[in-house]
Formats: sequence, C-alpha cells, structure tokens
Amino acid sequence: MTDDETTVVAIDGPAGTGKSSVSRLLADEVGAQYLDTGAMYRAASLAVLRAGIDPDDVDAVAELVRGLSIDLRDRDGDTVVLLDDEDVSTAIRADDVTNAVSAVAANARVREQMVELQRQVAADRFVVVEGRDIGTVVFPDAALKVFLTATPRARAERRHRQNLEAGRTSDLDEVLASVNRRDHLDSTRAASPLRRADDAVELDTSDLSLPQVLAALTDLVDQRIGVRR
Ligand code: DC
Repeated sequence: MTDDETTVVAIDGPAGTGKSSVSRLLADEVGAQYLDTGAMYRAASLAVLRAGIDPDDVDAVAELVRGLSIDLRDRDGDTVVLLDDEDVSTAIRADDVTNAVSAVAANARVREQMVELQRQVAADRFVVVEGRDIGTVVFPDAALKVFLTATPRARAERRHRQNLEAGRTSDLDEVLASVNRRDHLDSTRAASPLRRADDAVELDTSDLSLPQVLAALTDLVDQRIGVRR
C-alpha cells in the first residue's frame, strides 16, 4: 500500500456495544489512526446547547453548525475534540449533550457537513472509523466493515458500569431507557438511519470480553487488509 491510499476499517453499531473501546485499541494494534465520528456530532450538539438553540429546530441548527470549526486531533493515542479551537473532549460527554445529540445527528444538513469532514480527515490514511453510517454512507467502499451488536440490557449494564467508574451517579433502569430511546431515534430517522451494511461482518459482543472482540477484529483486519501499516 502506498501513502496516498485511503484504507478504511468501518466500525458501526448502536451505543454500548463496546465500539469506542475496541476501535481505539484496534487502531493502535494495527497501526491505524482512530476516528470517532460520534464526537463530531457531540461537538455540534454542545455548540447548539451553548447557543440556546432548540436541537429540533432544523434550520437554526444547520445554520449554526455551518459556521463551526470542528476538528479531531490525536494526542498520545487519545482523540482531542476541538470546537472553534477549544478543547471540548470532556464537555461533549455531559448528559445534556448526550440527550440532545440524536436530534442534531438526525439533521440532514448537519450530516452532510460531518460526512464531508470525516472524508477529509481520513484522506490518504489508514483509519479505523467508528460511527453509525460509516459502512453505509461515509465509506461504502471500506476495506472492512464491522457491525457490532449486543442486547439492550448488556449495553445498558456497560454504560452503567462506565458511569460509576467515572464517578457519575447512575441508575440502571434510566440508562436502559436512554439506550432504548437513542436506538429508536438513531434507527428510525430519515437521514442515514443506523443499519448494518449488506457486506458488513456482524459480531454480537453481549457475551464477549473486550480482548475477545479485539482479537476477532484484529484477525479480520489481517485477513482483509493483510499488511499492517
Ligand atoms: O457514539 P456516540 O454515542 O458518541 O454518538 C453520539 C450520537 O451521534 C449518537 O446518538 C449517534 C450519532 N452518530 C451518528 O448519527 N452518526 C455517526 N457516524 C456517529 C454518531
């Protein structure tokens, strides 16, 4: 492979399947760059909330987002999210952002802009790109497409554990309700709904540990892409 070739590993699936953790580790393992596309929608949502705009106001949201600069940088293997040059990596994980992001991500004009940005960031690189529409819309010709799934309960339990570990208060029933609500919004929206690409490899992670999922994906990269760069 030459340097001017874009090689994409697309990892899609709903929240709580372990996508982020495994995508980051996989990128490290195979020598690729990690691209967290959810972070871009979160950064846009944060700006919408700060501006006091209703996330469901399609025109006002699209207009605001059009004027934003959103960038992802790699700092020692961690993704740093810049919103108009401000590091918002922590702020985008707050609950109010999580609650607003499905509405912002359902905005077709916002999606168009983010997809364009994602293609630019990935250009001429070996990348592991994580999201909801990577294999279906952003990179339909990705060298490898993976669709991770897990039962809603398994996903809610993971989120709940992560919340507690991070020192956040968490109620499992509330987390489960939020997982179900986001699944519904993300998979029924008109613009690029969450769905498995026909040629994606589906992996149910409900009963798998992170090292097991990582080993399965590393094998797939070896088989499909061969060389690790
Ligand atoms: O993966 P995450 O929870 O950080 O994603 C945040 C939101 O963004 C989630 O509601 C789904 C949406 N999203 C999307 O619509 N398309 C992507 N490629 C990535 C995320």
